[in-house]
Amino acid sequence: MHGTAGNGEVGYEPIETASIDELRAVQTERLTTTITTAYERVPHYRQAFDNAGMRPADIQHLDDLRHLPLLTKEDLRHNYPYGMFAVPREEVVRIHASSGTTGTPTVVGYTRDDIDTWATVMARSIVAAGGRPGDVAHIAYGYGLFTGGLGAHYGAEKLGCTVIPVSGGQTEKQVTLITDLQPRIILVTPSYCLNLIDEMERTGVDPKSTSLEVGIFGAEPWTDELRHEIEVRLGIDAVDIYGLSEVMGPGVAQECVESKDGPTIWEDHFYPEIIDPDTGEVLPDGVDGELVFTSLTKQAFPVIRYRTRDLTRLLPGTARTMRRMARITGRSDDMLIVRGVNVFPSQIEAEVLKVDGLTPHFLMEIGTDGNMTAITVRVERLPDLAGSSPRQMAADRLRRHIKDNVGISAEVIVENPHSLPRSQGKAQRVVDTTSGQT
Ligand code: DLL
Repeated sequence: MHGTAGNGEVGYEPIETASIDELRAVQTERLTTTITTAYERVPHYRQAFDNAGMRPADIQHLDDLRHLPLLTKEDLRHNYPYGMFAVPREEVVRIHASSGTTGTPTVVGYTRDDIDTWATVMARSIVAAGGRPGDVAHIAYGYGLFTGGLGAHYGAEKLGCTVIPVSGGQTEKQVTLITDLQPRIILVTPSYCLNLIDEMERTGVDPKSTSLEVGIFGAEPWTDELRHEIEVRLGIDAVDIYGLSEVMGPGVAQECVESKDGPTIWEDHFYPEIIDPDTGEVLPDGVDGELVFTSLTKQAFPVIRYRTRDLTRLLPGTARTMRRMARITGRSDDMLIVRGVNVFPSQIEAEVLKVDGLTPHFLMEIGTDGNMTAITVRVERLPDLAGSSPRQMAADRLRRHIKDNVGISAEVIVENPHSLPRSQGKAQRVVDTTSGQT
């Protein structure tokens, strides 16, 4: 299978396979327009550029971008709710917002053209994933202020799919809908997909025999080990989709099914840079750091050098001209430091999936041991891993894998099937027992 829109061409739009020179020319032109408009219309940008002694005319090439100040989530909060909009509020046809569990929510807005751009990059993403016009698409990302559901929805409709807007939750009903309506594509978080697979097994539906052929998974970090698990259990191709509300929503980058080598960034709309998270210095392609985006076509909510907090590196294009990003290890704010070692939940996921008899349902509890951080990994066993000695062996094996491959000592507790809380959307992997915070 490979990504075509059914017309024999690779991809959904010609720019995906244009020459590098053509791509850079489009980006440069769009960048200068974006910078000028943002400076003229958004007080925050005018002030930030003035403070840095920069004028829009100083930005002539993509490389000049590095001289502009970075934009942070804090800046967006200071300008809550409409301060960052570059068009009159009346031209904004849609609002989305982050959940705001950790402070003032971030509100983002879209003009009619922005919604169309978003639908286009999302349609592109579905094609890159192996979807085609006419496919039935089951969308189990949450609908509402979260960008997942509606973002995927407009893209799938634009491509010409038959959309099932089921949203998250009602797991039993989702399985019935999949059985009855015969979708070929599913768009869902990987953690919630695991729930759907478990529910199929519980109700006697063979997951491998469903009509599903393509899964478009994102909104949370996941690993190649989990890709393998989902592909084998559900009998599909599983690909990675990346995005964030501040930059657009889902469809900023999409992994191509023919290469499965990390998401291609739709760089004609979202220009990426990687910076050193401590110094802000721009790093060369191939080097790990924090992903930063500048929007090149957004009207209502242009972002210039937005710090995503997501850690990855840029890689050369393969299935498309545009650059790829490596799978996200995690967010800098999700990183735990255990006795000097940096740990992300995705690293624990990879190790859990290597141990026979354990399921991918796990939780990391953060506690203290003296004045050091201590981690307990609670992980559900498979029903047939019965008896205390096989359970102990699985726990020991996981403890050893974590020690050898992640470099930390963690306590491991093997729990009974279905005893840990299940994700309905983005999985909550970390519980802080010291402060009651997650
Ligand atoms: O999660 C948008 C989205 C919806 C992407 C559906 C893909 C599918 P936010 O709620 O603003 O938007 O959260 C954005 O989620 O900065 C990453 O930390 C994380 N994230 C999103 N996609 C991936 C991915 C949506 N494929 C934040 N891998 C981002 C790892 C991801 N992390």
